[in-house]
Amino acid sequence: MGKKEDFFAHIEAGYTTKGDYISMGAAMLDGEAITNALVKIPLKTLNRHGLIAGATGTGKTKTLQVLAENLSDKGIPVLLMDLKGDLSGLAQPSPGHPKIDERHEKIGFPFTAKKFPIEILSLSEQEGVKLRATVSEFGPVLLSRILDLSDTQEGIVAVIFKYCDDHKLPLLDLKDFKKVLQYATGEGKKEFEESYGRIATSSTGSILRKVIELEQQGADLFFGEKSFDVNDLTRIDENGRGFISIIRLTDIQDRPKLFSTFMLSLLAEVYATFPEQGDSDRPELILFIDEAHLIFKEASKALLDQIESIVKLIRSKGIGLYFVTQDPTDVPDAVLAQLGLKVQHALRAFTAKDRKAIKLTAENYPISDFYDTKEVLTSLGIGEALISALDEKGRPTPLAATLLRAPMSRMDVLTEKELKEVIDQSRLIPKYNETIDRESAYEILNEKIEKAEAMAKKEEEKVSTRTSSSRSRRSSTRQNPVVKVLTSATFIRGVLGILSKAMK
Ligand SMILES: Nc1ncnc2c1ncn2[C@@H]1O[C@H](COP(=O)(O)OP(=O)(O)OP(=O)(O)O)[C@@H](O)[C@H]1O
Ligand SMILES: [Mg+2]
Repeated sequence: MGKKEDFFAHIEAGYTTKGDYISMGAAMLDGEAITNALVKIPLKTLNRHGLIAGATGTGKTKTLQVLAENLSDKGIPVLLMDLKGDLSGLAQPSPGHPKIDERHEKIGFPFTAKKFPIEILSLSEQEGVKLRATVSEFGPVLLSRILDLSDTQEGIVAVIFKYCDDHKLPLLDLKDFKKVLQYATGEGKKEFEESYGRIATSSTGSILRKVIELEQQGADLFFGEKSFDVNDLTRIDENGRGFISIIRLTDIQDRPKLFSTFMLSLLAEVYATFPEQGDSDRPELILFIDEAHLIFKEASKALLDQIESIVKLIRSKGIGLYFVTQDPTDVPDAVLAQLGLKVQHALRAFTAKDRKAIKLTAENYPISDFYDTKEVLTSLGIGEALISALDEKGRPTPLAATLLRAPMSRMDVLTEKELKEVIDQSRLIPKYNETIDRESAYEILNEKIEKAEAMAKKEEEKVSTRTSSSRSRRSSTRQNPVVKVLTSATFIRGVLGILSKAMK
């Protein structure tokens, strides 16, 4: 047998699947695609997470697009974090190109153009379905992680949540949280002291400063109502295609804290909401995070630990997470170690540091009789990548330099008009986009303080008329409880708080 036949047999055996799969393209030997030596990724192992890496312009985002559209085609919903705004083209079919046909001829199956159902979501004031979560849902542990608080400060946050629980004060937005924090060392000082112990003003001051920092990154837009129900991420359209939800994050690049806050809350919510899957043939939802280094950048150790444990846990719910980034070393080792699919596009060897990174990357791939991995890494063309996946039994598949299929949808972005059409057709926008500011901790405490003050004033008047009196002029607010008791249904502690506690 010649080398080519050997290679064909090696790929065919390594990528055989009994169940359903996605064909990524054809394996290449000595820089040439071997027609029909298809690199197939089983749907069954897609919940084992993955990485798409490679130098700029080598085809990472298109690989993401290819995966997303093929998942949608198989009825699997997808969530994309679009940091550069270059993925909206999924909603329109590819116009095609002779080069694309040529590519597919080499691969071994014909090119088809298709469009996919998309939904645009937003974390900021950009158009799209507004993504929000309440502070209550976020929970004390996660909030402390995001704010990077000390143990003492974290204890205070826990007390604040407990107080709000005990008094049925809904913590909806950061305004509510700040109000209770100030109240704890201000008007409500005595009340807090009696029930929960003394709280130092210096501590609440530091927490407050950190909350303000978070607000400055735009988090006040994220915290509030109406909370996004993650079940809305798993919709299937009338043709049986999974919805591709695209979160436009083009204005978030310089706000890493907001991005990681949001990511973590989303992952925790998804984890808490989705049922255990057991041994399933296909994933429930796949998430892609483009420019993933942004969540890890500036993340504290505590936050990284939290991300790491969520990545580990979420798999059993049938959720796959895919990180897209230039350099695989952007992703922490503990997360990298958990990734089943690796799609490595070309790396460039400009500097000594680059060459070191290439050597390291090559060492992380399975050994192949057919390739010099280091050499392949620098010689891959655009739209080609080294792939290593997991087969249905969870074993690594053979390393395959792959000529990747082209996206079926448009590689370019939507025009303003096309984007408007998508937004106009959205069924989720009417559900989420009205701003609600119902009575919550902020209003309730203000009312309470006002009443207490009015009461104190009355008392004062009484005192001044009774000239002989020597008792304290000010009545404590605790003796005049005017806390509104809301129905318990309006205040349900989010699963997030519970989850974070469980993961501590
Ligand atoms: N699978 C593919 N089929 C056909 N053309 C492709 C494919 N992948 C990439 N290309 C071509 O390469 C170009 C760059 O790809 P892409 O935008 O995915 O790069 P990238 O790695 O995401 O770059 P950056 O790091 O700048 O985001 C595309 O515009 C397209 O013309
Ligand atoms: Mg890109």
